[in-house]
Amino acid sequence: MAAQEFDYGMIGLGTMGRNLVYNMSDHGFFVAGYDKDPAKVDAFVKESLYYSVLGASTVEEFIASLKTPRVILMLVPAGPIVDSVIEELKPLLSKDDLLIDCGNSHFTDTNRRIERLAKENLHFMGIGVSGGESGARRGPSIMPGGAKEAYARVAPMLEAVSAKVNGEPCVAYLGSGSAGQYVKMVHNGIEYALMQLIAETYHLLKEHGELNNSELHDIFTKWNAGSLQSFLIEITAEIFAKKDELTGNDLVDMILDSASQKGTGMWTSQDAMSLHVPITTIDAAVSMRDLSANKKARQAAEQKLHGKTNTENLDKNILIQQAEQAFHFAMIVTYAQGLSQLQKASQEYNYGLNLAEVAKIWRGGCIIRAALLEDIRAAFAKEPDLSNLLVSDIFANQLNNLQESIRAIVKTAVSSGVPMPATVAALTYFDAYRRGWLPANLIQAQRDYFGAHTYQRTDREGTFHTHWT
Ligand code: 6PG
Repeated sequence: MAAQEFDYGMIGLGTMGRNLVYNMSDHGFFVAGYDKDPAKVDAFVKESLYYSVLGASTVEEFIASLKTPRVILMLVPAGPIVDSVIEELKPLLSKDDLLIDCGNSHFTDTNRRIERLAKENLHFMGIGVSGGESGARRGPSIMPGGAKEAYARVAPMLEAVSAKVNGEPCVAYLGSGSAGQYVKMVHNGIEYALMQLIAETYHLLKEHGELNNSELHDIFTKWNAGSLQSFLIEITAEIFAKKDELTGNDLVDMILDSASQKGTGMWTSQDAMSLHVPITTIDAAVSMRDLSANKKARQAAEQKLHGKTNTENLDKNILIQQAEQAFHFAMIVTYAQGLSQLQKASQEYNYGLNLAEVAKIWRGGCIIRAALLEDIRAAFAKEPDLSNLLVSDIFANQLNNLQESIRAIVKTAVSSGVPMPATVAALTYFDAYRRGWLPANLIQAQRDYFGAHTYQRTDREGTFHTHWT
């Protein structure tokens, strides 16, 4: 194919980049790909015989193959590599070229890059892409942010390659600046919390309920056919049924109980703290990843610290039913926390987010896709300024009805020594949020006592200080 024939460029031909190119190609777009690693370019060229794509062996060839003004997507590891790719491309780019970072970059890096490149008449967008390898190939959820005009240049392509739910694409313009990457970051925070909640439920059912993997497979399969229907519940059911090729045992039992992380969950918690938005379930999930990774310390502590086992008579069917409802409750609270963070971030960072749109594009393609998101979308569509999902008409009733089960599950977990911090956090968030009165009057009194920090009164306006001694 002659020079300047390709509609899009893709830098980074790892799993995600390659599959997204094939997806674009399926939809009739001509895409040139480039990777610093020649082995990846070779593999791409071999694999892509039937696609309308080019595997460029030099960055110059890559740039020359693109129609101008160019649109170049990047799927490279977040951090300094993104900056070095930009630096390498910059001398070869011309006015109005558009660079799109599709990785999990920190939103502050995206803001910095937009500003810097604008000075050189280049456009930069940050787009969150979720769905892993199969999402990239068959239809991811896409979370774009940046200038509206830049989005308009890529909207038809993004809509074509995205996942669809009832014919609606799982992509929409989210807002200015780093809005896309911020929404993706919070998506990941929610992902961490849902995974931790599932893991806690597994722990309780396995240890206290004495359920084996085959029973857990059946339970999660059944749950996935009901109100918990979601990608994470679905894959969990499949995980319980998978056999290890090396030993023939259940694979889940052969996997080390030590989870790693790339940092997006932690970023969600860090920024929620600085925005003063409580997201306690997500925080607990991040902490539990850290605790899980600390395997040696846990093994040593096991010799010294002893818990308690619950010897109460157990009705397995009741436990399973309560666990299902407890997870449902905690799942709603998790989305509520993530969306409340997005609401605050939107005000602070002027993103102009529409939470109904966010829920809409999370319904398909992404890791946190769930049937529940249809109701979340409806709740925000009905009340765009809803202060918190918990108090929406749909969810307030559901939470009121489900709370008995989560209270029972938390009681069982506490009395049997099974750690369920994310589940407990979901319940206590609800209990705190629904209280017109919390004991912070005492905290104010203490602050005033030791530091003359003053306090407000319940019966009159103004600021007061007392000589306590
Ligand atoms: C997605 C995922 C993905 C993320 C992984 C790993 O939406 O496809 O969120 O972007 O990178 O889930 O995250 P951790 O390594 O931090 O668990």
